[in-house]
Amino acid sequence: MDIVKSPSELQKIVERIRPTKRIGFVPTMGALHKGHISLIESARRETEFVIVSIFVNPLQFGPSEDFDEYPRPYEKDIEIAEGLGVDILFSPDVKDIYPIKQTVFVSLPELENLLCGAKREGHFRGVLTVVAKLFNITKPHFAYFGQKDYQQALIIKRMVEELNFDIAIKVLPTVREEDGLAVSSRNLYLSDEERKRACVLYSALKKAEDLILNQRGVSEAIDSAKRMIEKNGLSVEYFAICDPETLRPIDRFQDRALIAVAAKMDATRLIDNILVNYEL
Ligand code: PAF
Repeated sequence: MDIVKSPSELQKIVERIRPTKRIGFVPTMGALHKGHISLIESARRETEFVIVSIFVNPLQFGPSEDFDEYPRPYEKDIEIAEGLGVDILFSPDVKDIYPIKQTVFVSLPELENLLCGAKREGHFRGVLTVVAKLFNITKPHFAYFGQKDYQQALIIKRMVEELNFDIAIKVLPTVREEDGLAVSSRNLYLSDEERKRACVLYSALKKAEDLILNQRGVSEAIDSAKRMIEKNGLSVEYFAICDPETLRPIDRFQDRALIAVAAKMDATRLIDNILVNYEL
């Protein structure tokens, strides 16, 4: 596995590779876990050349968020990527990705200020902008994302479609611990006891799904799920039942829905979601 830090060097490499090999790209912020591993394994199976990026993108963190504290177990990540047969690990520094002040941004106002974007101003603009840059550097045929970050995957799909990126976006199911907790780099912030309580998020999503599938009202489902979560000591930022494409709340369940939650366990923000009769 080669480790590359320079965007222009990587661009030269992919120019050579692209005519004969399909390139699979897995963008990450490191702290690789089972979720990333499932994305990398799919890329390995489906393409002949796998690039994984590790870049903690300052542009997607708000001033009071955890950019500085974000886990960076770089040596362990290298070992994991190497073990999975990754061809190139792209791990640029901030100055490599933002050599000058970034003044051009990719934004999707219709979707980026809802759900997670409502409390994280500028987050999705930061995500879209860096993903567009990473796509231009790695020029993949396929790029892999997890359903756990559903809103992120949705807006990236829209960006790719509307800006004519020639890339197929693959969205893979959320990887869960045995008790249902969605695997996330931020789970590292939780104590064992908090980790156990955090699995209520998935149970609450399933409870809400069960209620709407059994013709109970959407607001009843939301209230009941929120109560479950709060009983376990988490504070709910949002619990939403919405349309999976527009992300707008639905009043009544008809045929499909996204059920999504963000909640804080102390200072740790956790998110999760499930889709009902829909696939991204
Ligand atoms: O999901 C993530 O880890 C990040 O948002 C991404 C897609 C790597 C962009 O920084």
